[in-house]
Amino acid sequence: MRFNSLLAAENLSIFDPVSPPGESIRSLAFFVFAVTGVIFLIVEGILLYSVYRFRHGAPKQGSEPPQVYGSKPIEIAWTAVPALIVFVLILIIARTIWEVRVDPHNPPKDSKPLRVTVIGHQWWWEYVYESYDGKKLGFKTANELHIPAGNLKIDSERRPVYLTLQSADVCHSFWVPRLAGKMDLIPGRTNELWFETGKTGLYLGQCAEFCGAQHAKMLLRVYVDTPDVFDKWVKNQQQKAVDDPAVVKGKKAFLARSCVNCHRVYGTGAEGTYAPDLTHLMSRDTLASGIITNTREHLRQWIADPQKDKPGCLMPAFGLSESELDLVVDYLATLR
Ligand code: CUA
Repeated sequence: MRFNSLLAAENLSIFDPVSPPGESIRSLAFFVFAVTGVIFLIVEGILLYSVYRFRHGAPKQGSEPPQVYGSKPIEIAWTAVPALIVFVLILIIARTIWEVRVDPHNPPKDSKPLRVTVIGHQWWWEYVYESYDGKKLGFKTANELHIPAGNLKIDSERRPVYLTLQSADVCHSFWVPRLAGKMDLIPGRTNELWFETGKTGLYLGQCAEFCGAQHAKMLLRVYVDTPDVFDKWVKNQQQKAVDDPAVVKGKKAFLARSCVNCHRVYGTGAEGTYAPDLTHLMSRDTLASGIITNTREHLRQWIADPQKDKPGCLMPAFGLSESELDLVVDYLATLR
């Protein structure tokens, strides 16, 4: 299968976080493991000791061991100790929730917040870039989220990312384990999620709420770029689509088809908002929400029959002839 290699070797571990919320969640996990681990060892230890110590049965055949009734100290101990443990866990969890909670209205002073609205669709992610460092952005992209790396030690160099999460259809869940905890995208409700990181790289994730037949193929890719690379990327995304005279026939073929009812190519007649924005399609590494690498060959196969890779997805096969397919792919391949 073409898409296996995209996820197989990647690091999706919550134990290897690169952002403060991820670190809080890891600390909590370690703490809970430690507490429950100690309890486990004590209980199993007593059990094994008893099995070994009394392996020959009671000292006298037929007799019972001493029976103890109503020991106040023991009853107080086994009520108070678990209650105390639960109370400590509650306090630690409350502190973690406090640490990872969102306050989008109060970004760190002098920082450069990035604000993006994420809309979950069956089965892809829409990203509406709202603003960065107080300046309006106003462009859309799909499936591959780009964010700038910051310097977490200097407030004016921090670049916290505030996501506003919404859904166009059913419940989804945004989860990039190394950046933050899961947050659901719920129809008719707006949720928020926050993270920031100083480490550039690609961080993968996955829709974490069952949302229909292709839930498993609703992958997430977050690219953390250096601020310069991010600025360049933003500049490019804000541009209208490339209008390459060499593919005029292909553009015509594309615009004549019903592709334009769902897809948008900024600067052309294609104004659909129902499906991923294709204005800068070739600036993305993958197709179909991260399941296929974005090569000309794969793009052609995807357009020829999307149902083969993602059965049930909303994009139908349009029955294009081989030559029409070539023309449309020629055109799309210029949308950098
Ligand atoms: Cu979207 Cu699962």
